[in-house]
Amino acid sequence: MITPKSILFVCLGNICRSPSAEGVMRAKCKQAGLDITIDSAGTADYHIGEQPDSRAIAVGKQLGYQLENLQARQVKPDDFHQFDIIFAMDDSNLANLQKLQAAVVQPTAKLLSFDPSGQIADPYYGDKNDFVKMFDHIIKVTDNWLKLWQSYS
Ligand code: 4NP
Repeated sequence: MITPKSILFVCLGNICRSPSAEGVMRAKCKQAGLDITIDSAGTADYHIGEQPDSRAIAVGKQLGYQLENLQARQVKPDDFHQFDIIFAMDDSNLANLQKLQAAVVQPTAKLLSFDPSGQIADPYYGDKNDFVKMFDHIIKVTDNWLKLWQSYS
């Protein structure tokens, strides 16, 4: 797989996992000098227009990731043409994306699990510690993808 030019992270609400992954990946691509367009979206419409969850913003800030300027949006058909890779944060997000993709004419995006060996646990109904664990998981997986992509260049 070649290094993508654009990545979309997708979870359910687009207020916890996918905006956190967007913030981490954006910062790490900048550090690595990789010019990749990064965005995130949710399969559900519950939180459209909202900022990320305040716990994600707070824990992200402690770790040096800026999330407060992000705004939740829903996945749209054109995403399946605009992005090289669409990363699902868990298996249910992946199943939802596969259903949405089936209704799109000639989709070009590659749908992948962000963590190929697991899932990013949903911290929404948890506490602050679940958000700390979520960031830890996202940072590890992001580093693995960056190592892979940098090995191609
Ligand atoms: P996310 O977490 O998919 O990581 O953004 C959730 C956010 C909201 C809800 C569920 C999960 N919700 O049911 O409103």
